[in-house]
Amino acid sequence: MKMLILFSSRDGQTRKIADFIANEAGEEKVCDVVNIDSASGSDWQAYDRVLIAASIRYGHYAPEVNRFIADHLPLLQSRASGFISVNLTARKADKNTPETNVYTRKFLEQSPWTPDRCLVAAGALRYPRYGWLDKQMIRLIMKMTGGETDTSKEYEYTDWQQVAEFAREFVQITDKSLYK
Ligand SMILES: Cc1cc2nc3c(=O)[nH]c(=O)nc-3n(C[C@H](O)[C@H](O)[C@H](O)COP(=O)(O)O)c2cc1C
Repeated sequence: MKMLILFSSRDGQTRKIADFIANEAGEEKVCDVVNIDSASGSDWQAYDRVLIAASIRYGHYAPEVNRFIADHLPLLQSRASGFISVNLTARKADKNTPETNVYTRKFLEQSPWTPDRCLVAAGALRYPRYGWLDKQMIRLIMKMTGGETDTSKEYEYTDWQQVAEFAREFVQITDKSLYK
């Protein structure tokens, strides 16, 4: 098994999740973790499964995510594939599934790609690392949604146990090339 994990990350949490999954997959599995911005040259023949992990900013994934999917759709569809959506809304138990998380539900409805598995992961809130405007905006959103508002602190909501379970399950799904 050889897995390609593509990440789209602004502040590093999605990259951290991608690296964690690569570790969890176990030493006998080969995993390459690549920024989606520089993934177009990947040797697709080498991989039998692909994960795309992307974070939300102001309601959207980075445009590179949809662009990559559009450009590589047949290759993505012909492999075992998974999508991971990283956002802060998912810190709430009633908003952390592909059906209940608005960003993930819309993505799955609109994307031409149908991933075999999908995970909604809560991200991190790292106030000290944000610029002034982002800090104020995020603090306001947190205040409105009952979240943490102390801008001197960092909070990590990612449920690593949940990510580990997803990783274990994902490496076991059937390799589509077996049917070719
Ligand atoms: C400027 C900014 C805007 C954000 N907008 C949203 C948002 O609209 N909805 C949401 O659920 N989370 C939002 N988040 C939270 C991020 O999705 C979360 O911090 C995630 O961990 C970021 O992943 P990354 O570090 O890989 O970029 C925002 C975070 C920042 C810094």
